[in-house]
Amino acid sequence: MKVCICGKGGSGKSTIIKLMADAFRGYGKEVTVLDSDESNTSLYWMLGFERPPQPLMDSLGGKKSVQAKMIERFSRGENEPEMSIWQQDLISPDLLRPGFIVEKGGIRLIQTGKIHQALEGCACPMGVVTREFLKKIELSPNEVVLVDMDAGIEHFGRGIEASVDAVVCVVEPSFESINMASKIKELTQSVGASFRGAILNKVASSEHEAVLSEKLNDVGVPILGTIHYHGEIVAACLEGGVLDVPRASTEMEGIVKTLLS
Ligand SMILES: Nc1ncnc2c1ncn2[C@@H]1O[C@H](COP(=O)(O)OP(=O)(O)OP(=O)(O)O)[C@@H](O)[C@H]1O
Ligand SMILES: [Mg+2]
Repeated sequence: MKVCICGKGGSGKSTIIKLMADAFRGYGKEVTVLDSDESNTSLYWMLGFERPPQPLMDSLGGKKSVQAKMIERFSRGENEPEMSIWQQDLISPDLLRPGFIVEKGGIRLIQTGKIHQALEGCACPMGVVTREFLKKIELSPNEVVLVDMDAGIEHFGRGIEASVDAVVCVVEPSFESINMASKIKELTQSVGASFRGAILNKVASSEHEAVLSEKLNDVGVPILGTIHYHGEIVAACLEGGVLDVPRASTEMEGIVKTLLS
């Protein structure tokens, strides 16, 4: 199963990925996390790795090389959603070279690539690599790939969600986040992917939870469950340390059970 975690910037996508990876492991799944966010670097330390893996972009010759291939494909009249950069027809996590995939506690981490320098150009090559990787990755029934998307909805423009089995949206208690959840549902369905619903995150009170639930219900967004506001998550993120928050993990177990059902 390939699951994309989307949502507004700062809503808690990476936090949810970490909690979800642990919960899927707890249910006996083999978990691979794909860090597809070209800006933020937090995921590797949240997951407890000392350093991030080498980017998939480098395994394809680097961003400039991918850019050059894209320009060549465009000049041949290819459209971006059909464009192919990888030579292989099928990709397995097991076939990735050491360094490009790291593993700890049964959870594997891969990353597409990050923006490092001013004027290095846009993040389009990252989107192309992520999309094709997700399209071609071959999984056994017991394997789960969790994709940490960049904030917002730009990735829908690249059709990345067309290659996954489920899209889950993280919603924090804000009007903007609710609006984005509604848009994400619409965009997911327009590419024929399965929108599974929203995870409410950073919920500090039952009153806020009730308002959030009502507003999401009004826009037809199903709710998978709630992760409450936990000071321990803020503390771990302040230190840049592994996210190990048992109360949040327990909340996520119920959500993943729903996703697996
Ligand atoms: N359940 C929670 N309780 C308290 N704080 C939280 C919770 N979830 C996330 N946070 C806080 O919100 C911040 C942003 O979380 P996170 O980095 O997971 O969001 P994101 O959606 O991945 O952000 P970005 O869009 O920048 O990638 C964290 O630094 C953390 O302090
Ligand atoms: Mg993030």
